[in-house]
Amino acid sequence: QRGEAFDVNCMTLTRFIIQAQKKHKNATGELTQLLQTVQTAVKAIGSAVRKAGIARLYGIAGETNVQGEVVKKLDVLSNDMFINMIQSSYTTCLLVSEENETVIEIDHDKRGKYIVCFDPLDGSSNIDCLVSIGSIFAIYKKVTDDEPNVNDALQPGRKLVAAGYTLYGSATMFVLALQTGGVNGFTYDPSIGEFVLTDMNMRIPERGNIYSINEGYFSQWDSATQEYVQSKKDPTKGKPYGARYVGSMVADVHRTIKYGGIFIYPATATSKNGKLRLLYECNPMAFIVEKAGGKASAGKDLEILDIQPTGIHQRSPIYLGSRLDVEEALSYIK
Ligand code: AHG
Ligand code: MN
Ligand code: MN
Ligand code: MN
Repeated sequence: QRGEAFDVNCMTLTRFIIQAQKKHKNATGELTQLLQTVQTAVKAIGSAVRKAGIARLYGIAGETNVQGEVVKKLDVLSNDMFINMIQSSYTTCLLVSEENETVIEIDHDKRGKYIVCFDPLDGSSNIDCLVSIGSIFAIYKKVTDDEPNVNDALQPGRKLVAAGYTLYGSATMFVLALQTGGVNGFTYDPSIGEFVLTDMNMRIPERGNIYSINEGYFSQWDSATQEYVQSKKDPTKGKPYGARYVGSMVADVHRTIKYGGIFIYPATATSKNGKLRLLYECNPMAFIVEKAGGKASAGKDLEILDIQPTGIHQRSPIYLGSRLDVEEALSYIK
């Protein structure tokens, strides 16, 4: 019969998470509780992002608006949301945020077994021109029984329990990858205030025809990266690729998963490990892309997820996307 105008049985992110929990007989429900509070944080951030333009009309963000209220810059507001929501979930013992120099320790009475590394607002340079931005998170389990400390966050990406991102684009999408399972995309439906499953079992194409890199730094790249990118524009080497670069990692990675191709932030002369941070940008995105059938390398033969972190804000070059595209790029790096 004709589709129903109103879906009375929609698969919400909450339902999906509870269903996933039930697959683990001895699950405590802590991960469900944690993911629920992350969901609340990103719903609130999405609402603030959609309103930021109006807020800016009332006052220059970061100062006070006409009502004398302090208007927080979106990335500070997003950071506060993440910290306050997650620490009151009673499921974490340590947090790492791009916006906090040192680890955030959780009070004794609020502790749980998870560690969350997050980028509360990714692509902040794009806020004021209304280009898509996002949030990224990565969840580890504490594997030692000592006092929570920075080493609990310095686990290789292979150990991730879950990772995800939200894209505040023409729609707001929550993409989630669980250790046991694939990658699923949920689109925010403001009429019910829930993320609804729209992209089941996301798979990245084996090869694409888009390359994504900030060509402004061409002169600072290593010669192998220069050669590879030139080859993608050279009609004598095959049909040239299209170029797309948003400047928000979440937007560039989401497009790469949906359409295929390669996203690169290489080492440059000024930043020898590139710009993107391993714990809350490279690792979660590498985890998600690998779960979707793609590849994520730091260049040469080092995969992002195999890097043993030594510092919570350390950076890594990243070549991420369709398996064949990443392998081709790496073939230039002897
Ligand atoms: P953030 O806003 O969280 O600091 O991240 C910005 C990052 C990432 O989103 C994007 O891929 C990259 O910066 C763009 O850097 P360039 O402007 O140097 O290309
Ligand atoms: Mn970022
Ligand atoms: Mn950020
Ligand atoms: Mn930043």
